[in-house]
Amino acid sequence: MKLPIVAYGDPILRKKAPAIEPEEYPHLAALIENMYETMYAARGIGLAAPQVGFSIRLFIVDASPFEDEDPELKGFKKVFINAAVLEETGEEWAFNEGCLSIPDIREDVYRGPVIRLSYYDEDWKHHEETFSGMVARIIQHEYDHIEGKLFIDKLSPLRKRLIQKKLNDISRGIVDVDYKMKFPAVKKGR
Ligand code: NI
Repeated sequence: MKLPIVAYGDPILRKKAPAIEPEEYPHLAALIENMYETMYAARGIGLAAPQVGFSIRLFIVDASPFEDEDPELKGFKKVFINAAVLEETGEEWAFNEGCLSIPDIREDVYRGPVIRLSYYDEDWKHHEETFSGMVARIIQHEYDHIEGKLFIDKLSPLRKRLIQKKLNDISRGIVDVDYKMKFPAVKKGR
């Protein structure tokens, strides 16, 4: 089942999401399946639970659309539960990022190239793993979502001013988007 994607301006995107326990979420597998369906329909490569209205430490990644550029990404599809970045290293590099919650805006964002991550997979198996390059980039973007942060927070004050009107429009639903979204500043019945 496809879920509406929460748009910029919704307070849930600004909350630090809490960790979860397996007992609290017996239907986690169904939520993960719905998140994949939602992400693929919107042609995304990552999606965090707060973006579909659940403030919990869960995000998914499927980096395979980038496999032509980097063969290491072939079939890279993972679920991250209760993720914690343990370390971020290397010289920051810029990549033009976008976000399904902030359609039609893409900006260069600087992030470190290597991260060490602790997380649980969908079978609640614990992992401690190092990721680099494009995979690290996608994980960092999604990780920000469960921390209540967005990629636009990392822009210069000037860039932020330049996109402010567009951001306001997005929160009011004034944006062309071909997937289902939930806009915070749109009153019911409009
Ligand atoms: Ni995003």
